[in-house]
Amino acid sequence: NIEKDENVIWHQHAIDKMFRAEQKQQRPALLWFTGLSGSGKSTVAGALEHELARLGYHTYLLDGDNVRHGLCRDLGFSDHDRRENIRRVGEVAKLMTDAGLIVLSAFISPFREERQLVRDMLPEQEFVEVFVDTPLKVCESRDPKGLYKKARAGEIKAFTGISSAYEAPEQPEIHLRTHHGSIADQVDLCIASLKKAGVIR
Ligand code: PPS
Repeated sequence: NIEKDENVIWHQHAIDKMFRAEQKQQRPALLWFTGLSGSGKSTVAGALEHELARLGYHTYLLDGDNVRHGLCRDLGFSDHDRRENIRRVGEVAKLMTDAGLIVLSAFISPFREERQLVRDMLPEQEFVEVFVDTPLKVCESRDPKGLYKKARAGEIKAFTGISSAYEAPEQPEIHLRTHHGSIADQVDLCIASLKKAGVIR
């Protein structure tokens, strides 16, 4: 909508991102978890958020299953809807980093292009891609919600890894192999990487 773009002007407010972040004594960041259904995204992101909160950081966890009950309740799992899901979540996460928070997100986000779109919304050092790399076979054997069974039986269309693509990250900032080691090990690895990258102290 060209008319709208011309007439709606961005307003620069006095209190900005750096002020809010300094008030919280932290650097804002978006920790973007991606991986197959059942890979452990929500579990590891939740455990990492718990540890960051324990260390005194201000965080917020955006979770696929929860966001799809509200903000994205009108969206399904076609390629188009998944793209729109990730675009909306990216915009929300951007607002939250603007509020000075360390945001964790746990969405399958199967397409490289959409993850790149979110990466491009933020300054380079603020986007941390976390690949929860659990083989399909392992996810399918876990099948915590019984969805793989339904997908194999043809009861769910376009299920990621079965009848819809998952494009693995090529150069994630953090690469987790959840079938080796405990949740605590994954959290330790994330904390060490975040320290090294200067996201946390
Ligand atoms: S996406 O692709 O990023 O838009 O997906 P996301 O918002 O993360 O939602 C994934 C959860 O929805 C459930 N579900 C499906 N997943 C994949 N494909 C299909 N067709 C599908 N239908 C429902 C599933 O429980 C996913 O949860 P997780 O936590 O990933 O297992």
